Amino acid sequence: MSDSAAPAPLHVACIMDGNGRWARRRGLPRTEGHTAGEEALAGVVRAASDRHLGWLTAFGFSTENWVRPRTEVRHILALHRKLFARTDEMNRNNARTRWIGRPFEEKGARTPVVVQKAIKKAISDTSNNTGLSVTIAFDYGSRAELVRASRHAMKAGPVSPRSIQENLYDPSLPSVDLLVRTSGEARISNFLLWQIKGAHIFFTERPWPDFDQRELDEALATLNGPTHT
Ligand code: FPP
Repeated sequence: MSDSAAPAPLHVACIMDGNGRWARRRGLPRTEGHTAGEEALAGVVRAASDRHLGWLTAFGFSTENWVRPRTEVRHILALHRKLFARTDEMNRNNARTRWIGRPFEEKGARTPVVVQKAIKKAISDTSNNTGLSVTIAFDYGSRAELVRASRHAMKAGPVSPRSIQENLYDPSLPSVDLLVRTSGEARISNFLLWQIKGAHIFFTERPWPDFDQRELDEALATLNGPTHT
């Protein structure tokens, strides 16, 4: 590689934890924490775009989250529709929306049709942008992704890292450089288990609604240490 080669655009992934605790500390219902969390994500998208990151992937709703109380699930679904509708903002940021999760037509998938529509529209309305790629993981679980990828890979021949990669929900999603988890939990929670090989991990005590550009910079600064694959 020549000295002048540009470094690969960075991929930052976020486990946005602590919305409920953020709300409880303020005497608010949990749903208010999620509302503030959606706003925080919009801020992080802007900051990531300003910093010329290549990829931002956020864990919006997991395959495990469906067991939450119905009102909370409904609220989080509505917030996703709101988030996916922010296309003007995405276009201003030259950012593309992408999605990973259990494919809509497959057995076990649970994304409601209204959210499916919002996802499809957001992807199509931002597809000409050339900057940051923002991937929302919705109805996503890494084990489900890997089991499916292995099954598909086996049908085509001997399983290899390459054949697994080619059968992930989004094979073009690059390896994660930096994984952030907020709110003091030092866990991965079934998120991007394949893609985080070699990622730096940044755990912070702050709950997600308080995660801002200053803390994104702090997390990015940790990448200056040695990299191990
Ligand atoms: C964890 O907080 C967060 C989630 C269940 C998923 C993330 C959802 C959001 C940030 C809201 C909106 C986001 C999008 C992408 C529209 P928690 O409820 O587990 O918090 P707690 O651990 O403090 O109870």
